[in-house]
Amino acid sequence: MTEETHVLTAPPADAAADWTIAQNWSNYTPEEHATWDTLFARQSQLLPGRASEAWLRGLDVLRLDKPGIPDFDALSERLMKLTGWQVVAVPGLVPDDVFFDHMANRRFVAGNFIRRPDQLDYLQEPDVFHDVFGHVPMLADPVFADYLEAYGKGGQRALGMNALKYLGRLYWYTVEFGLVQENGALRIYGSGIVSSAAESRFALEDASPHRIAFDLARVMRTEYRIDDFQQNYFVIPSFDELLRVTVETDFAPLYDELKQLSDISVAQTLSEDHVITRGTQAYAQQHNRA
Ligand code: PHE
Ligand code: FE
Repeated sequence: MTEETHVLTAPPADAAADWTIAQNWSNYTPEEHATWDTLFARQSQLLPGRASEAWLRGLDVLRLDKPGIPDFDALSERLMKLTGWQVVAVPGLVPDDVFFDHMANRRFVAGNFIRRPDQLDYLQEPDVFHDVFGHVPMLADPVFADYLEAYGKGGQRALGMNALKYLGRLYWYTVEFGLVQENGALRIYGSGIVSSAAESRFALEDASPHRIAFDLARVMRTEYRIDDFQQNYFVIPSFDELLRVTVETDFAPLYDELKQLSDISVAQTLSEDHVITRGTQAYAQQHNRA
């Protein structure tokens, strides 16, 4: 989902120097398009009323409801007109500097492969459904589009400051697993949630996880899990506010401060947290029996 596992060190032979490859849209089989359609049908039933208005609007204006795996060129053309972003194909996860360079230049890197029919519910590597259905609708939102570009530039900066651990957590708890307050209710915008049927319900409705008001330094100190549902979600008041606080804060001194502080483990809450719903952690207790 983000940039931590199975990273090659040089682009494979069929990739360009910037690691992009052709999507080869005409090579998808009918079964692969059918996998997209199955996942799409399931999620589009769940997401009205659960996903944020920005994500739902993006799905609509990008016409992602057409059957089959989207063609990146046609999708990029629409996205370019709306917010200046493009979608480019890469062979799985790419090195951090490559990932940040694309993002800083408004190119979203997406896997071109789709999960197998026996992996509908879970897979660890981001496929085209996660990357396109999960992430791309938010790129049609002008504020979120600016946030991701700023994040890419922040990544290039963080590389030289030995601070990727902190910046990566910001990505995880916003872009991948973020919740937003909208008209007095919680909505999903994180792509790891919107691309998962089970977590779309869990993140909003289950009594287990904590839902905590977003605080930049707090989020950057917080560990996360990559193997199961999150034990805490962070709630932003709005995308404008997320963009404002991340752009207005110089992360360099913040990283220095964070390096002096301990990490916060998942499911831990602090007295200074604004806890929106305190979770029972029942799910994690049942599923992580040591
Ligand atoms: N303000 C951040 C910095 O000083 C850059 C950034 C912006 C990072 C938005 C993430 C998101 O590095
Ligand atoms: Fe992702």
